[in-house]
Amino acid sequence: MDSQITVHGKRFVPYISEEEIEHKCFEIAAKINKDYEGQKPLFIAILNGSFVFAADLFRHISIDAEISFIKLASYKGTTSSGNVITAIGLDERVKDRHVIILEDILDTGRTLYQFLPELYNQNPLSLKIATLLTKPSARLFDVQPDYVGFEIPDKFVVGYGLDYDGLGRNIPAIYQLAE
Ligand code: IMP
Ligand code: MG
Repeated sequence: MDSQITVHGKRFVPYISEEEIEHKCFEIAAKINKDYEGQKPLFIAILNGSFVFAADLFRHISIDAEISFIKLASYKGTTSSGNVITAIGLDERVKDRHVIILEDILDTGRTLYQFLPELYNQNPLSLKIATLLTKPSARLFDVQPDYVGFEIPDKFVVGYGLDYDGLGRNIPAIYQLAE
C-alpha cells in the first residue's frame, strides 16, 4: 500500500487496504447469497459514494439479483424540519421486492433515516442495509445496518468511492485523515 497521500491539501494515511476491502466484499456477498437464496433481491446503490463498493460486491453475488442506482438530493430551508431527501431515479420496481440498500458509509444516519420512509411507501417485501463502513460513535439518527464491512472511529476517510469535497473517489484503498 502506498504511504500518505494529499487530497485538497490535507494529508491522509493508509487505513484499509485493497486486499482487506476485497476480502470483506466477498464475505458480505457470501452472506447475502445465503440469506437471499431463491428470492431474487433488488440491490439499490446510493450514488455517488457507493458505486465502487456496489460494483465489487455485486460481482460476488451468485444468486439471481438485480441492481439499480439512485441519487439522493437534499433541500434546505423549505420546511422548518430541515432537509427533505428525495430520490432521483426511484421507481415502482421496489414494490413486492426484497430490497438491499448499498451504502459506502453510515455516518450520522441522517440520509437514510430521511430516505427510508420514502422507500417503505413503495411497499418492498423487505428492506435491509449493507454498508461498507459504519461510524457507530457518529450516529445521531436511529439507522441500523444489517451487513457491515468495517466499524471505524469517527474520523474522516477517503478512497474507494468516498470523497473529500469531490476528490479521492478513484483511490483504490481507504485512507484516513492524518492527526
Ligand atoms: P450520514 O447521512 O451522516 O449517515 O452521511 C452519509 C454520507 O456522508 C455518506 O454517504 C458519505 O457521502 C458522507 N460521509 C460521511 N462520512 C464520510 C467520510 O468519512 N468520508 C467521506 N464521506 C463521508
Ligand atoms: Mg454517500
